[in-house]
Amino acid sequence: MKLSKTLVICTLVLIADGVLAGDKELVDYRQNVMHVIGGHMGAIVAIVKGEVPYNDDLAYHADALAAAAPLAVPIFKQQAMTDKSHALPAIWEDWDAFESAAKTLEETSTAFAAAVAGGDRGAIGGALGKLGDSCKSCHDDFTEEEH
Ligand code: HEC
Repeated sequence: MKLSKTLVICTLVLIADGVLAGDKELVDYRQNVMHVIGGHMGAIVAIVKGEVPYNDDLAYHADALAAAAPLAVPIFKQQAMTDKSHALPAIWEDWDAFESAAKTLEETSTAFAAAVAGGDRGAIGGALGKLGDSCKSCHDDFTEEEH
């Protein structure tokens, strides 16, 4: 009897530990993915503004951002929160709206990559504006002020 009680307690402690550790890893992972997206966006803006002489890299960053965009849904599927996270509970309370914001990112990043492939400066600028709006709109609704 005593042994089984100890086992139950040990198991509960292990499960609790697992959940906490899982949250940390999940938040780290989704922030890493967002940093990948943010890194490409930062590089794209610097190139398009003419701040750096890396025009030849624009297509790479545009394609890589479009390839990363579909990750925005799965990285948030499992609810996880830590002190380090800037995510709002609204993500999971209104999942359909979040998913739709992520879909918009997929569409705008794909359209931006297509504009870059087309090579027209006006089209590239316009598509970049829409891409930036899709980041801002989701951050406005689903992240804390800092972003
Ligand atoms: C579908 C919603 C959504 C879209 C679209 C989105 N983000 Fe995010 N982003 C988030 C959320 C939520 C967080 C906060 C994650 C956390 O801290 O747990 C975040 C965090 C970030 C972070 C900070 C990561 C950290 O360590 O705190 C960066 C950088 C970022 N996003 C860049 C971008 C850029 C650039 C775009 C557009 C190209 C974009 N995001 C589009 C939801 C989104």
